[in-house]
Amino acid sequence: MAKKGKFFVFEGIDGSGKSTQIELLSQKLQDEGHKVYSTCEPTDGQIGKFIRSILKGENKTDEQTIAALFLADRLDHLHNEENGLLKKIEEGYIIICDRYYFSSYAYHSAHVPLDWVIKANSLPANLLKPDLNIFLDLAPEKSMERITKGREKLELFENLDRLTTTRKQFFHAFEVLKEEENVAVINADNPVDTIATEVWLAVQPLL
Ligand code: TYD
Repeated sequence: MAKKGKFFVFEGIDGSGKSTQIELLSQKLQDEGHKVYSTCEPTDGQIGKFIRSILKGENKTDEQTIAALFLADRLDHLHNEENGLLKKIEEGYIIICDRYYFSSYAYHSAHVPLDWVIKANSLPANLLKPDLNIFLDLAPEKSMERITKGREKLELFENLDRLTTTRKQFFHAFEVLKEEENVAVINADNPVDTIATEVWLAVQPLL
């Protein structure tokens, strides 16, 4: 049965400007009369909170466990009885999600084989595939400039080496999954309005 809502995912390395674009797209869709549900991963749930404590360095574990925790958080995000994605999509919402499984493919395949991460995420992929993955592409050097501005402490993956690898891995994963996944790559090194227009041009035909 065709799903009732739509599912748009924003992806990008840290500092690529996802939050601003999510806000703009959400507003535009609401102005057009759509029901919009904006959400993110890691989530605000128990598993997501634990992940954030690891990213902040308050708890420590290995890279494989981190990859598995993100998967658990994603499954909870999908199934959650209160505001799970599967429920929201059935209710006809347009869901806009800040990160989904491509973030796992990109961030974790530095230390865990990509095919393992893809296989491990086959449950989410079968349960709910994005109508579009919107990748905001920014050079890792620029992203580090943005992240370090006005911040004292950096999170676990916020360093130039890791972000450089992660950006490469995003493109590698897009190539590996090009038959199955709908991806729009958008240059994030442009004025906010230009990026928003490009996002809209990619989203509108799918509504
Ligand atoms: P991020 O979108 O940067 O959240 P915020 O800006 O609110 O801190 O996501 C936090 C980090 O989580 C980011 O470094 C990417 C990482 N991440 C993974 O490593 N794997 C995943 O599957 C997801 C969803 C995120």
